[in-house]
Amino acid sequence: MNENLDHILSEVRNHVSSAPTREELERLRVHYVGKKGVITSLLHQLKDLPAEKRKEMGARLNDVKTDVEKVLKARQSELNRKALEDQLNSAPALDLSLPGQYATSAGALHPVTRVMEEFIQIMKRIGFSVATGPEVELDYYNFEALNTPEHHPARDMQDTFYIEPPILLRSHTSPVQIRAMKNKKPPLQIIAPGKVYRSDYDMTHVPMFHQIEGLMVDEHISFADLKGVLHYLVKDLFGARPLRFRPSYFPFTEPSAEVDMQCISCRGSGKECRVCKSTGWLEIGGCGMVHPNVFRSVNYDPDKVSGFAFGMGMERIAMLKYGIDDIRSFFENDLRMLEQFSC
Ligand code: PHE
Repeated sequence: MNENLDHILSEVRNHVSSAPTREELERLRVHYVGKKGVITSLLHQLKDLPAEKRKEMGARLNDVKTDVEKVLKARQSELNRKALEDQLNSAPALDLSLPGQYATSAGALHPVTRVMEEFIQIMKRIGFSVATGPEVELDYYNFEALNTPEHHPARDMQDTFYIEPPILLRSHTSPVQIRAMKNKKPPLQIIAPGKVYRSDYDMTHVPMFHQIEGLMVDEHISFADLKGVLHYLVKDLFGARPLRFRPSYFPFTEPSAEVDMQCISCRGSGKECRVCKSTGWLEIGGCGMVHPNVFRSVNYDPDKVSGFAFGMGMERIAMLKYGIDDIRSFFENDLRMLEQFSC
């Protein structure tokens, strides 16, 4: 039986190592170590041997079985590798880890968003916090509480879209100031960024645009504080430059002013300057000292506190900063324009 086993082992080695396919290998496995295989039946025959022989033969048979299984396994992985290689060589190459043919570029912040973010960061540095409110607003917060009762001629300055009176799309972010003051006693130092709506459409006006308004209320706040804050803001946005406060009118501030910044293109000379239409100045927003009636509507005592407010259009600021002359180009989604900001 021993010789028989040696014979089987060398036979297995020969056959297995030259088995050409996985099917043939499987057939050999069944033939030798399968349920009715050669080695399995030898193991079954052990019980017929005398006890002293049985032990020796049993050990020997088990060794042979382990050897045969090892050889089978080795050939199996050889054939598997070969099959994979064949598959890779014959199939068209497909490497899923390669980058796509049309690389997608990473998105970038819209120029208006960039300017807003920058604006907010500057204001946060000097103690203003961000307040928000609804874009679909009540007439009361948008006009009434801002000293602009119904039939007030100043309502014409900010014609907006009505959902169903008294519900409208806010025409400025000043209603956020009313909401903030109703929620908190002074002192207060906030900015209100967001979308606003007006029924306008031309090179410098669109029906929806972005505003940031600022409000500071405390005892003894003066116009000088307003000037200081605006100089700081403009210096950070555009570099230090002179500001001009032109008397103006807003129902919610008294006195009121338009803020002009020295032209960034002609530096105030006004000589044949397209940017400032040769005036030497660029209007950047409106401002003023909060009207006592506004304080009364939020239960602040105008004899005890004072405050300033200002408002700026973000598209306007972005146009000046990036030299864009048609406000509508912010909303046309023309990649030739937007990609200039994708760094
Ligand atoms: N709310 C004004 C507007 O949208 C801007 C402004 C704000 C003016 C605060 C003065 C004070 O036109």
